[in-house]
Amino acid sequence: MMNQSNSTYPFKTLPLPYAYDALLPYISAETLLNHYDAHYSNYVRNLNDALSKYPDLQDWSLKALIVYADSFPNSITKDIKTNAGGVYNHEIYFQSMSSMHQQKPSGNLLNAIIRDFGSIENLLFSIKSLGMAIVGSGWVWLVFDTQCRLRLVTSEKLDVPPISILFPLLTLDLWEHAYFLDRKSKRGEYIDAWFNLINWKEIEELFPCG
Ligand SMILES: [Fe+2]
Repeated sequence: MMNQSNSTYPFKTLPLPYAYDALLPYISAETLLNHYDAHYSNYVRNLNDALSKYPDLQDWSLKALIVYADSFPNSITKDIKTNAGGVYNHEIYFQSMSSMHQQKPSGNLLNAIIRDFGSIENLLFSIKSLGMAIVGSGWVWLVFDTQCRLRLVTSEKLDVPPISILFPLLTLDLWEHAYFLDRKSKRGEYIDAWFNLINWKEIEELFPCG
C-alpha cells in the first residue's frame, strides 16, 4: 500500500512502487514522471508548507485533515483541504496501478463486483461513463460502504469522497495532466488504456469483506 492516510506532518513524497516506464504502453514514462514529480510532489510540499504555520494541526493524520477540513477557519481550510486532497488522491491513484498489467479481480472482490455491478465489464463501463461525464478535472472512485457494498462515486478538482463513511479501493485521475502528453484530449482512450493497469491484487487486499 502506498498511501499515508494515517501519517502525520511532515508528509513524505512516497516512492512509486514501480519504475516510470513500467506502465508502458498505456501511460508513458514522461507522463508518469511529470505526474509524480511535478504534480504529486508539489502537493506534498505545499501541504507541509501550509501545516508549518499551524503547529496545532501537525499531529493530525492526513485522513483527519481531510475529514475535518471544513471545520477549520476559512483561512486555513483552502490551503489544507486542497493540498491534502492532492496528496491523498494521487497516492490512491498511483496505488491503483501496477506494473503487472491486465490483472483480473478474483475471490471475494469478484463476487462483490458481480453482486453490485453484474459483471466486471459493467463495472468498467460505468467507470468510463462517469469519467467521460466529468466536466473539467476530477476523479472516479470505486469505494465500499459500511455495509460492504461497492459503489462508484466521483469528485471534482481535488475533492475527496466522504472517507469517514466510504472506503476507497481505487481512483482514476481525470485531470488532463494524467494523459494529455500521450493522448491529447482523448480521455476515452486514456480510460480504456488505464483499465489494463488496475492493481486488482492490491485492491483485493484492501477489501476486507467476505
Ligand atoms: Fe493528477
